[in-house]
Amino acid sequence: MSLINLIDLPVYGDGRGDLSSLEVGKDVPFDIERVYYLYNLGESPRGFHAHRYLQQLAICVNGHCKFLLDDGTRREEVVLTKPNQGLLIRRAMWREMREFSNDCVILVLASAHYDEKDYIRNYSEFLSFAKGE
Ligand code: TYD
Repeated sequence: MSLINLIDLPVYGDGRGDLSSLEVGKDVPFDIERVYYLYNLGESPRGFHAHRYLQQLAICVNGHCKFLLDDGTRREEVVLTKPNQGLLIRRAMWREMREFSNDCVILVLASAHYDEKDYIRNYSEFLSFAKGE
């Protein structure tokens, strides 16, 4: 099974523009407890961590960027270019983001509040954690 799990979101477009929506239980497979977004991104890659429990859906709502996902045994990359497509990031998944376009805005829906204790920021620690899963 691919690590890259893309969720297509509906687009309601007409002469006035496009609108996409997502609904918990239908488009998003977890309850959303937090929303955050990344913008004014530059050359510096981001991420370089995994979460013990947190699940997330990342949507590049403007511009484009590259995500790398790593489950401890495989690494896969995907370029997000569409505001109507979400990348599901399961728990225990190392992620890196890079190659942001100047206009890139990434919206992230998360299954829990911010909790630094849920982060694994050390790659060797992540590999041990992933092995134990
Ligand atoms: P971090 O998750 O390390 O960013 P990235 O993975 O994109 O490189 O978060 C950067 C900083 O922002 C860090 O100090 C924690 C803080 N932060 C919050 O306070 N709340 C949040 O919901 C998030 C995602 C980050």
